[in-house]
Amino acid sequence: METIQYFVSLGAGTHQIPLIRAAKNMGLRVIAVDKNIHAPGFEYSDIQVHLSITKPCHIIRILGEELMMDKIAGVAARSYGLAQISAAMIAENFKTPYLSVEKIKLFRNKRKLKDLLKKKGVHCPHSYSWKNKRSKEVLLKSKRQLIVRPAAGSHGKTGIRIIKNKGEIKQFLKEHPVDREDILVEDLISGNEYTVIGYVQNGRYMPVTISDKIVSRESPLYAELIHRFPSSLSAEIRQSINEAMQKIVDVLELDHTALVAEFIIPSRGKLPSLVECSPEIGGEYIADYMIPAAYGEGFFEKIVSLHLANYKSRKSFPENKAKKSVIIRFMEQKNGVLESLEFPEIEKTSQSFLFSRILKKNGEKTFCKNGNKDRLAVFGLQGPVKETEKLLEESEAIVSKTVVSYKSHEPKSD
Ligand SMILES: Nc1ncnc2c1ncn2[C@@H]1O[C@H](COP(=O)(O)OP(=O)(O)O)[C@@H](O)[C@H]1O
Ligand SMILES: [Mg+2]
Repeated sequence: METIQYFVSLGAGTHQIPLIRAAKNMGLRVIAVDKNIHAPGFEYSDIQVHLSITKPCHIIRILGEELMMDKIAGVAARSYGLAQISAAMIAENFKTPYLSVEKIKLFRNKRKLKDLLKKKGVHCPHSYSWKNKRSKEVLLKSKRQLIVRPAAGSHGKTGIRIIKNKGEIKQFLKEHPVDREDILVEDLISGNEYTVIGYVQNGRYMPVTISDKIVSRESPLYAELIHRFPSSLSAEIRQSINEAMQKIVDVLELDHTALVAEFIIPSRGKLPSLVECSPEIGGEYIADYMIPAAYGEGFFEKIVSLHLANYKSRKSFPENKAKKSVIIRFMEQKNGVLESLEFPEIEKTSQSFLFSRILKKNGEKTFCKNGNKDRLAVFGLQGPVKETEKLLEESEAIVSKTVVSYKSHEPKSD
């Protein structure tokens, strides 16, 4: 008799549903863990555990003692931060494939991670420390514009600050006299940005998508507005991005994991510069909608298979197999109370319609300083591979036909 294989999903929110469903499609029984008893992913799972996903020891005990699970086939978390550490600890306990806790922790600190990668030859923006007099002087003498952001745990373009001159550097040093390595100060690179999604199988980096990312250049500064696939980059630059990804995999000795990264291609020079990188599936609806639309094949089964010891999926996503071009377009927020947002009827009127979602309710307060987190809505369009420009035009037309209104009394802005 075939034994039943259990797969643990840390989290059963909307975000985790694709992972849970993929595991189900592969014939696994899913144990979903979430402290929210109304989590929508519970509906798709076989066993529901009502616990916080940030309590790995508790979860291990419940799985082992109460559910008598001595065999778990795999564990995964489609979440950032602490959920990843939990997943690593649970996977270690049940001896299923996952990155070690140490590696997850290293990924959580951009500054430490990039310092290491830089030493090993991965091209990253120049960064600064201000630990001693000499390094402080170097920072003060910098003639470049600088970007300052939290080194750890930031997500969603919050806490970013641009420093434009010596006076502002002095001000920064006054506010942060001691370098505790929790802030990352880098040269601000001007150039276009790209989101890179792939995975690692047996230590080999396998690319899935490289997409152009268009971020807001005004408030909400750096919020992501458009993701475009296929990217406008030349084959040569895409190749050098893939090589940088493989180098990251080699330096960090990754064997099986999802991997997402962001690069800037400097306007001067061509070498891709690494912005950030993490062992995650990524958000922004890329894995959820862009990849399946582009390839006619979902990405989540691949992810599940990377976390199973004895299941090797043969699926792959080489870009020359892409069948569709995809645009994901977000609607940005203002400071204030949202009164209403109405999309034109894209679903009925556009052949390119892929999905749409309202992200903020009427009456909710939104702030520019909250970056990505407070964006109002999102939609996706798909079309023939060679007609990306046309899709972009169509998406802008939809944006201009979308009616957004804010209540007239605005709260104090950021
Ligand atoms: N060195 C840099 N030069 C120019 N822009 C940068 C640089 N570092 C970060 N950024 C911008 O800031 C954004 C947020 O940085 P990132 O490290 O990706 O933080 P988050 O975790 O919020 O996504 C990037 O998407 C990019 O637009
Ligand atoms: Mg980012």
